[in-house]
Order: sequence, then C-alpha cells, then structure tokens
Amino acid sequence: MPLISWDDKFSVGYGLIDEQHRKLFELTNSLHDAIMVRAAASALGRSLKELLDYTVYHFSAEEDLMQRNGYPQYAEHKALHDALTGQAIDFKTQMEEGKAVSSLAFMQFLRDWLTRHIMEVDTALGGFLKNRAGS
Ligand SMILES: [Fe+2]
Ligand SMILES: [Fe+2]
Repeated sequence: MPLISWDDKFSVGYGLIDEQHRKLFELTNSLHDAIMVRAAASALGRSLKELLDYTVYHFSAEEDLMQRNGYPQYAEHKALHDALTGQAIDFKTQMEEGKAVSSLAFMQFLRDWLTRHIMEVDTALGGFLKNRAGS
C-alpha cells in the first residue's frame, strides 16, 4: 500500500511544482515499499539516494522560481528546505553506517513533513506564482 497517495488537495495550482510533487510522492512510496519488503541494503540505498537527489533538485527548482519572481518569503521557505535536507542526509548516513535507525518512523516523519509543507508553504508559493503569471 502506498504511503502517500496523490489527491487534489495537494495541488498548489502551479503545474511544474505539482508535477514534481507527484514524482516526490512516487519516490517516497518506492522507498517505503523497499523498507516494507526488507529489500537488500544496496536496493534501499539506491532508492534513498534517488529520493534524496530528487528532493534536492525539487527544492532548487522552487527556490529558483522564488528568486526569479522576487518572492518575499524566500528566506523562510528555503530555511525549511535546508532543515529537511539536513535531516534526510543524517538519516542516510545513519543507514549507511548500519546504525539501528527506525526507517518506518523516518518515513512517517517524511510523509507528515511533505504533506504539511505542500499544503501550507508550497500552496502559498503556488498562489503567488499564479497571480504573478496572471498579472
Ligand atoms: Fe515543494
Ligand atoms: Fe517548498
């Protein structure tokens, strides 16, 4: 069963961001599946790396849009991205070192973080960009 399913409530009203969020959900679900079936460490590592790389790519894309459009909440929004990236890298390091980290707890944390961030912070950005495009 997927950890997060796409729903219209996650749409921020800006196509590029929505597409990237859908892809993030897919990669999050793939990692969750790999954890659930107790995939080999190499497969878990690949899946986690793919998710982490795409997250960094997506955050940069949003930050680029904010900067190019003079978004007033750029600094606060970027700080949230940086904090999550730091936590995800810590998790990856712990996994690679074979430390007993709770993968499922991290996945639930990630799901809650993503859904809240999308519905609050990214939705505010999407509204701003949409107005900007229409003006
Ligand atoms: Fe986002
Ligand atoms: Fe964001």
